[in-house]
Amino acid sequence: MESLVITGGNPIQGKISVEGAKNSVLPILAASLLSKDKEGIWLDQIPRLQDVDVMIHILKDLGVQVKMQGRNLFLDTRSLEKDVVEDYHNNRMRSSIFLMGPLLGRMGKVTIGYPGGCRIGERPIDLHLKGLSKMGIKINMKGHRIEATGFPKGALIHLDAPSVGATENLMMAGVLAKGETVISNAAKEPEIVDLQNFIIKMGGRITGAGTDTIKIKGVDALSGGTYQVIPDRIVAGTYLLAAAATKGELLLENIIPRHLEALCAKLGEAGAELEKGDDYIWLRGKELKSLEIRTLPYPGFPTDLQPPMTSLLTQAQGASMVKENVFEGRFDYLEELNKMGANVTKIENRKAIIKGKTPLTGAKVNATDLRAGAALVIAGLVAKGHTTISNIFHLDRGYERIEEKFRNLNACIERRKDDNENAFQQSS
Ligand code: EPU
Repeated sequence: MESLVITGGNPIQGKISVEGAKNSVLPILAASLLSKDKEGIWLDQIPRLQDVDVMIHILKDLGVQVKMQGRNLFLDTRSLEKDVVEDYHNNRMRSSIFLMGPLLGRMGKVTIGYPGGCRIGERPIDLHLKGLSKMGIKINMKGHRIEATGFPKGALIHLDAPSVGATENLMMAGVLAKGETVISNAAKEPEIVDLQNFIIKMGGRITGAGTDTIKIKGVDALSGGTYQVIPDRIVAGTYLLAAAATKGELLLENIIPRHLEALCAKLGEAGAELEKGDDYIWLRGKELKSLEIRTLPYPGFPTDLQPPMTSLLTQAQGASMVKENVFEGRFDYLEELNKMGANVTKIENRKAIIKGKTPLTGAKVNATDLRAGAALVIAGLVAKGHTTISNIFHLDRGYERIEEKFRNLNACIERRKDDNENAFQQSS
């Protein structure tokens, strides 16, 4: 097991370019199974992350030929031969559930375990399964295994809630389906638009991603081709928050600023100076004012930036309030922040009050999940003295070589091997 050791106090300074979005790459990798074209698929801007490695591993296990060259990934999906996703993988990554839609479209059958994932709430998959049933799929639960059979047929599906994963899974199930599929109350996240753009590039017929109604007209086959995934807005947001919390100055390049509007609005309200261009955001940190944050589906404030934002709010003057509306279990890290001297109180299951500004001091803390880990990195960058963050495999799932990136931005941070063999490895 490894930990990060941070000596806080340096302002984050410099410029950084952001890698491809994890939450785009994962469904796009799954969607590649829908093609069996001899041209194959080339994906560009692939981030080197543990979750992406796990998904590539699953695809290989299913029979896909995969070749990685730098940030490019080549997939030859003609050799797909299995419709069973082994248990080992499901436990490691929630996104394995995305494989249901494409495997049903291509093979008419899939067996998969109930997915694991970050411990940030209950995370049921009822909306995925209800939608697939509407498309004529027979679902059979065998213990913790799901056996689904049938080729998807076009259907009208109203999602009870705008789930990102269910929207993506059902979009993929509709691509090769007979007839038209309409998903209403769909999620509108940029990663859903990216998935639509990928499928269109491969010859699929989808419209409406980014709005709450998505229409998919089934086609007989997809082609191959090349595609570049969008930059990771959550990684970008984490760097912006680190710069604002340490009163630094950061130029963030290769990003889509409109994907970060909710965050930038809040950073501006808190007092940070910001300038946006077509593909960059520049930020200079100033004295921070308290904020009220309510997480919501896109275009609202992203739940994935709630923990890092809370770390920033420990440095804001006055009382801030954070309300988590998306996942019910995303406050586990508050205890860790308090160990560092923060004054954060959970007043209801989904609401926390942060009293600032409090000086933070280095401590031994534990990354309870991916974005909790990001929150602790920011707290460590602010804190006086040394912070040791354990269980950083969570961070490696979503941030590429985070210590190197922050070191290039003036931070004092290093990765160390430790012997905490009891750390429990599970991923989202
Ligand atoms: N939900 C249901 N039933 C379902 C599906 C979801 O009740 O069948 C509920 C969830 O329990 C949750 C809410 O709906 O309360 C939203 O969940 P959603 O399905 O939208 O989330 P997800 O698809 O599981 C993706 C990202 C998450 C991100 C959320 C919200 C991927 C691989 N994961 O998860 O990313 O937080 O959307 O934006 O795309 C992360 O990167 O750290 C991460 C957790």
